[in-house]
Amino acid sequence: MDSALYFLILFLSTILPLLLLLRATVFFSRRRRHLPPGNLGLPVVGETLQLISAYKSPNPEPFIDERVNRFGPVFTTHLFGEPTVFSADPETNRFILQNEGKLFESSYPSSISNLLGKHSLLLMRGNLHKRMHSLTMSFGNSSIIKDHLLVDIDRLIRLRLDSWPDRVFLMEEAKKITFELAVKQLMSFDPGKWAESLRKQYVLVIEGFFAIPLPFFFTTYHRAIKARGKVAEALSLVVRKRREERERGEIKKDMLGALLEGDDGGFSDEEIVDFLLALLVAGYETTSTIMTLSVKFLTETPHALAQLKEEHDQIRARKGESQALNWSDYKSMPFTQCVVNETLRVANIIGGVFRRAIDDVNVKGYTIPKGWKVFASLRAVHLNQDHFKDARTFSPWRWQAPTSPGNLYMPFGGGPRLCPGYELARVQLSVFLHHLVTRISWVPAEEDRLVFFPTTRTQKRYPIIVQRRAVS
Ligand code: HEM
Ligand SMILES: *[C@@H]1O[C@H](CO)[C@@H](O)[C@H](O)[C@H]1NC(C)=O
Ligand SMILES: *[C@@H]1O[C@H](CO)[C@@H](O)[C@H](O)[C@H]1NC(C)=O
Ligand SMILES: *[C@@H]1O[C@H](CO)[C@@H](O)[C@H](O)[C@H]1NC(C)=O
Repeated sequence: MDSALYFLILFLSTILPLLLLLRATVFFSRRRRHLPPGNLGLPVVGETLQLISAYKSPNPEPFIDERVNRFGPVFTTHLFGEPTVFSADPETNRFILQNEGKLFESSYPSSISNLLGKHSLLLMRGNLHKRMHSLTMSFGNSSIIKDHLLVDIDRLIRLRLDSWPDRVFLMEEAKKITFELAVKQLMSFDPGKWAESLRKQYVLVIEGFFAIPLPFFFTTYHRAIKARGKVAEALSLVVRKRREERERGEIKKDMLGALLEGDDGGFSDEEIVDFLLALLVAGYETTSTIMTLSVKFLTETPHALAQLKEEHDQIRARKGESQALNWSDYKSMPFTQCVVNETLRVANIIGGVFRRAIDDVNVKGYTIPKGWKVFASLRAVHLNQDHFKDARTFSPWRWQAPTSPGNLYMPFGGGPRLCPGYELARVQLSVFLHHLVTRISWVPAEEDRLVFFPTTRTQKRYPIIVQRRAVS
């Protein structure tokens, strides 16, 4: 999501360069004294090009390291058309996240909001946000997962894995899995023609989020807007049908059901559609990427993979070959939880969050001027050698030490916008790993490498050659 945000600002910087330059200059001359130290780079583009070229490489850390070494963990830079305060400091990040709605607010560019729809959770503010955030949190909380969602997570992942041919693009397969899970959890649809045709449109919408809004890419964005219309249409049909079912007394327990119940009079079809669509968007790329990257890291760390296999073979040995995982199985995967945490730490799917200061804000003796962009970099903290030993190595064993990472570790953000899908994502990844390592062995089909721009992913969608493990 954050990288999508980059693009619109990039866009603005090409259309309104002079205006932005003017604004930046005014800001700077007025407030220079109290600003965090830093470098603004070239006019208009600022340090954007350096950032992009760093994030397009497998090792973007030097971009941050150099600046932290020179200026300290809170510094000023100029990205995507706007002066931005960049924080690589855990305390400052926490402060920014906790003060959402008071001193800072999340801000998305209009190209993103148009795709999301104005009634999405990500764009809500104030009391409405509070209420809907807590509704979303309870939709994915551990007791709901335990009692309702886990059965389908187990079943749908198993079905998908069993349908794999000898060679797959893991990223594509993971996306199918997370989409099918989301459609099931949100509106109780099983995989099938309807879900697959919805997914095809939906993929076009997602491309729009990451399309650089420059003339060359306009077709991608237009196609995305059109596809969004089709997805919204399909979803409104579902909503209307469900309203009719409700009148006949048929109640389904899913996210859509919760929205239709709405203790304060319920929501309009448009509101519900926007809301559902944003949940699909937020949960799909993130979880499928983390599934893919966990497999990549494990493949490259055979010792960890062996230990993970052992843990899951033991669980499987207690159960029949096709018996579903239950909550106590999930709770007896200590090493898996280390792998999950470590994957989230190293991969940093959401590298950080953008905010805008809604007032002058004092931080670490500096002033962030009202209206300025702020980037709280989660990645910079997760990969800092002072906070995590050998921070740039994938080592799940580090999580076996009894120390709590406190506010150093925030892969799901925090404060009022803490990711409502955090538990769901963890469970989905764990169940995926269980079925993967107990049913399949694999080798990479080609060399593939990580890049971090425009999103965290591998260049070739991680092709693997698949072999069924003999049934024990
Ligand atoms: C590995 C998987 C995931 C990661 C790393 C992740 C990370 C994050 C982060 C860092 C935020 C905070 C954004 C901000 O503060 O501006 C966020 C927000 C959000 N996430 Fe996730 N997420 C994941 C999976 C999911 C899933 C499965 C769902 C589906 C329910 C979901 C739904 C959301 C929503 C709706 C928000 C916006 C919350 C708000 O603005 O109030 N995420 N996520
Ligand atoms: C989860 O949410 C449900 C409502 O959807 C609530 O009744 C339950 O107490 C919540 N459980 C936890 C562990 O928060
Ligand atoms: C979960 O599965 C395990 C192993 O198959 C079994 O021993 C346990 O009783 C099950 N727990 C529940 C709550 O069903
Ligand atoms: C994983 O990280 C979470 C914080 O997000 C922490 O509460 C949990 O204890 C960690 N798990 C392990 C096994 O260390």
